[in-house]
Amino acid sequence: MKNITVIGSGTMGNGIAHTFAQYGFNVALVDINADALSRAIQTITNNLDRQLKKGAIDEKVKADTLNNITTYTDLATAAAKADLVIEAATENRDIKLKLFKQLSEICSDDTILASNTSSISITQIASVTKKPRNVIGMHFMNPVPVMKLVEVIRGYATSNEVTQKVMKLAQQLDKNPVEVNDYPGFVANRILMPMINEAIYTLFEGVAGVNEIDTVMKLGVAHPMGPLQLADFIGLDVCLAILNVLYGGFGNQKYAPCPLLVNMVTAGHLGVKSGSGFYKYIAGSKEIIVADKFS
Ligand SMILES: NC(=O)c1ccc[n+]([C@@H]2O[C@H](COP(=O)([O-])OP(=O)(O)OC[C@H]3O[C@@H](n4cnc5c(N)ncnc54)[C@H](O)[C@@H]3O)[C@@H](O)[C@H]2O)c1
Repeated sequence: MKNITVIGSGTMGNGIAHTFAQYGFNVALVDINADALSRAIQTITNNLDRQLKKGAIDEKVKADTLNNITTYTDLATAAAKADLVIEAATENRDIKLKLFKQLSEICSDDTILASNTSSISITQIASVTKKPRNVIGMHFMNPVPVMKLVEVIRGYATSNEVTQKVMKLAQQLDKNPVEVNDYPGFVANRILMPMINEAIYTLFEGVAGVNEIDTVMKLGVAHPMGPLQLADFIGLDVCLAILNVLYGGFGNQKYAPCPLLVNMVTAGHLGVKSGSGFYKYIAGSKEIIVADKFS
């Protein structure tokens, strides 16, 4: 595999493009929003500079990585020669089903079609394509260049051959792939999201404040980041979308998203990407300040 097409250049898409490009793959990065593509290249450049400063890479790797990425706004052009497509567009079922239907027309019969979805059924995504056996989940973690796990999700029809190829490919990126089956939330988010939702309920019910909740989980449970900060980092809209998939998929009240989370997303307070969530984020500053609403 040499040609990788990454769809969506947001939080995850830019990290996935960065990682493949750094390991020598040709990356076509495509987004419907040209500004998002410019921001992605800027983010990748900043992250490469950080790796450079730490001595993790040299100037040549930085230059080669950037040279290996080409940006597109047209899906058909971006995906025409792909050996593997990784879709990392917005966590919305209709968007993903439409994209995979298009990909099924655009790509060759041998192209592997992967989704980075956090929770949407790979089996359902595969069902709109001509070759469901070639469709798989390749769930990277944020930030992609740093995090070692790739949750590899087998849809009902995914072939052994495709699964093995994707497991091997993840290892080539110096990641640790783990194979799981296709049920709502897979493994990572089925366990993580109820915890984040419970942390939001704890805040909503006035049991404790933002700092207190995150401190308890950091110092008491040895989590590197508190659940509310992690939710901001993931994106509150993404958290809400995943909880809705768990709620719909299992029909169990325990997954119902906290009304505070719903309100925050409706108000556009999405966490790091919008500048405000449980904390507020000031460009260029690393200081963690609780958002005015919760201070
Ligand atoms: N944020 C996380 O921590 C995280 C972790 C693992 C997986 N994921 C999953 O990765 C995917 C992307 O999440 P994100 O956080 O990067 O989202 P994001 O909102 O940061 O970025 C999504 C990007 O997709 C683009 N897009 C939307 N529709 C498109 C289309 N039809 N064609 C091309 N581009 C399109 C948007 O313009 C945007 O730039 C989601 O499925 C999400 O569940 C997210």
